[in-house]
Amino acid sequence: MTIKKSALDTYKLLKATATVAEQSLEGRIQHYRAHIKAEDKELRTYTQKAAADLLGCNNRTLKRKHDQGDFDILEIKRGANGHYAYTLSNIYAMADIMGLRPSHRLPSDKLQVIVVNSLKGGCGKTTSLVNIAAALATTNIKRYRIGIIDLDPQGSSSSFFPPIAHDPITVGDLMRDCIELDENEVWSDVVSSAFLPTHIPNIRILPSGMDDFYFEHETATQLKDQVGYDQTRHYHKLLEKVIEPVASEFDLILIDTAPSLNFMFYNALMASTAMLIPVHPEAVDFDANNKYLKRLGEIYHTVAALGHDGWDFMQFLVTNYVKGNHSQRDIVKDVRSAFGRQVMSYPINHSAAITASSSSFNTIFDQKTSDSLASRESLIKAQENIKDVVDELEMLIRSNWASTQCTLESA
Ligand SMILES: Nc1ncnc2c1ncn2[C@@H]1O[C@H](COP(=O)(O)OP(=O)(O)OP(=O)(O)O)[C@@H](O)[C@H]1O
Ligand SMILES: [Mg+2]
Repeated sequence: MTIKKSALDTYKLLKATATVAEQSLEGRIQHYRAHIKAEDKELRTYTQKAAADLLGCNNRTLKRKHDQGDFDILEIKRGANGHYAYTLSNIYAMADIMGLRPSHRLPSDKLQVIVVNSLKGGCGKTTSLVNIAAALATTNIKRYRIGIIDLDPQGSSSSFFPPIAHDPITVGDLMRDCIELDENEVWSDVVSSAFLPTHIPNIRILPSGMDDFYFEHETATQLKDQVGYDQTRHYHKLLEKVIEPVASEFDLILIDTAPSLNFMFYNALMASTAMLIPVHPEAVDFDANNKYLKRLGEIYHTVAALGHDGWDFMQFLVTNYVKGNHSQRDIVKDVRSAFGRQVMSYPINHSAAITASSSSFNTIFDQKTSDSLASRESLIKAQENIKDVVDELEMLIRSNWASTQCTLESA
């Protein structure tokens, strides 16, 4: 086969561009790493009043418990002003001491695996996911065990929740079967240890890495050499194999995805129990979303044929909504009239606080109001907004847990 000279020139140009891109990427990765060292990343601390609010008691009760020595076994630091500065782990331990039990699902309740996906790039998948996870973990005392799987090799969620480990195992490593087990190692232990702790005590992340991109190419190559339904079947089930061994360790797993209907996405669908579709209310995005939905049905058909159990819910979430923008308001109206109750009641509003915290890979729940680059008012508003979204999502999740229904009925 002869390659035309003009094609060779293009190839050379691309090679040169790739070199520049690689250097730029390496530079940026080093820049990120310098700024996001997991061991440096700390969740905000809480004042006594904030701790009491989370624990559902008043300040005086908490003070009395301190005076009684109830919390003496805990290492609670004090801030520069001499007042207690509680970490979330402190507050969880205090809840245990106070007999407040975590709201974990029972083994008979189904693990919730929620995929956040849209074919539209930049519609707010990652921003929604990381802030929802942080809100669920930090704004109540239920202590949900939350897993995040970063199925996007771009690694945005992994930047918000940098795993506490150097050179972590990635989701792609597990799906591509890159891990050689040592003599006494078992798969389930390796998978469990790959879900690494983050700066938020009850959130663990299975990060992505740049090499995870190879998953697509490898899968396509392997499929090309094989024929037949049965042989291709397991390519959709690789993520399930990752989730299965750790299912009992989580109440909820959130999966971030790339804006692509790729093999990774098929795997996400196969493993999912629910779907959250962010919709940015701009005309071009909404149209793209409608085209995506047409294709999603076809893709789901394949997944259904492979034995998927069906979703417990599929919700649209309006994201980055600029209040007062008439054209966005009209599009949201259209979204609601088209999809009715499948649209979450509250949109995630465009917020300067989200922009500011995202620029340093923080969720709006990571920092104290005083540390935020945005105004206090903007941060509080954004937190309240995400809380509203999370309250609805939590209801959807809990409606699938039979044990919760009993508790609600007897309450
Ligand atoms: N509610 C919001 N307020 C302010 N900025 C937002 C909001 N939601 C998203 N953004 C901004 O929009 C941009 C795209 O968001 P994000 O990265 O979450 O999209 P994505 O769908 O995950 O993108 P990709 O398809 O590349 O994975 C980011 O710069 C993010 O900070
Ligand atoms: Mg993203």
